[in-house]
Amino acid sequence: RGVYERDTKGRIEPMKQNNVVTLAAMKARGEKISQLTCYDYSTARLMDQAGINMILVGDSLGMTMQGYSDTLPVTLEEMILYGRSVARGCRNAFVVLDMPFMSYQVSPEQALANAGRMMKETGVDGVKLEGGEGICPQIRAITAAGIPVCAHVGMTPQSYHAFGGFTVQGKGEAGAARLLKDALAVQEAGAFAVVLECVPPKLAALISRKLDIITIGIGAGGGCDGQVLVYQDMLGITEGQTPKFVKAFAQVGQQMMEAFQAYDSQVKSGVFPAPAQTYAKSDCGDEVLNRLDESQSAPLLSVCSTQ
Ligand code: KIV
Repeated sequence: RGVYERDTKGRIEPMKQNNVVTLAAMKARGEKISQLTCYDYSTARLMDQAGINMILVGDSLGMTMQGYSDTLPVTLEEMILYGRSVARGCRNAFVVLDMPFMSYQVSPEQALANAGRMMKETGVDGVKLEGGEGICPQIRAITAAGIPVCAHVGMTPQSYHAFGGFTVQGKGEAGAARLLKDALAVQEAGAFAVVLECVPPKLAALISRKLDIITIGIGAGGGCDGQVLVYQDMLGITEGQTPKFVKAFAQVGQQMMEAFQAYDSQVKSGVFPAPAQTYAKSDCGDEVLNRLDESQSAPLLSVCSTQ
């Protein structure tokens, strides 16, 4: 293809099958783009092999991996750690790493420095930050340094206190006009993609038609250029109620529970490990083991007998 990068071992490899150019071409051809969140190497490998186009190392990991009730406590160092693990698992999926709360809001300089660290220290392909018009100076600074930026408008979880909860955005004419303005602004600032979260479907479709860059919807209907879901939600691992827009494509949580229960019961009953799971062929003969048994037990017995 004429564009090359080095893999982690220093070998020169063709550019990933999914990159900013191929993703834009998918939109131009009317092909839908698949994206899932991911936070670890093993799952990233499976998603990559399954053909998922984009992987988002979302700061939703504050909830899904760390057990917080929102994304605000997640740190830059934590994002870098998770991002690095996911990047190592992806040969073809385009990996986007979320900039955590307060790692970019302060100034364009702060945003650029932190986005640079995230790129240098993880091997991801781009970063994501939340906000519309107000965050455009940051988007300009980061993209000017050659770092692909995915924006995120609509319901932006880092601002849920300001919204008064996780609520649908873009309601009414004023709300819809504001959202369209935000989406156009982030495109103009240089973003290559924008996530539309919790946006009414006709408005999301209209924004997707009006923008040249790709739109990735979550709770924004089928008119977006692509879709993203949190992987624990779509695998049926999340406990309790999930948002209306979630579809569980499997019940992996139930399967995991059954496997953990079976393991617990087999360990306790002695069924596991069976001979097939041992290194029996490497054992010494009984004669040797008996000799060892006797040589070790004699001093122990004498110690015990003095007490
Ligand atoms: O952090 C995240 O997982 C996200 C998605 C919900 C879009 O931002």
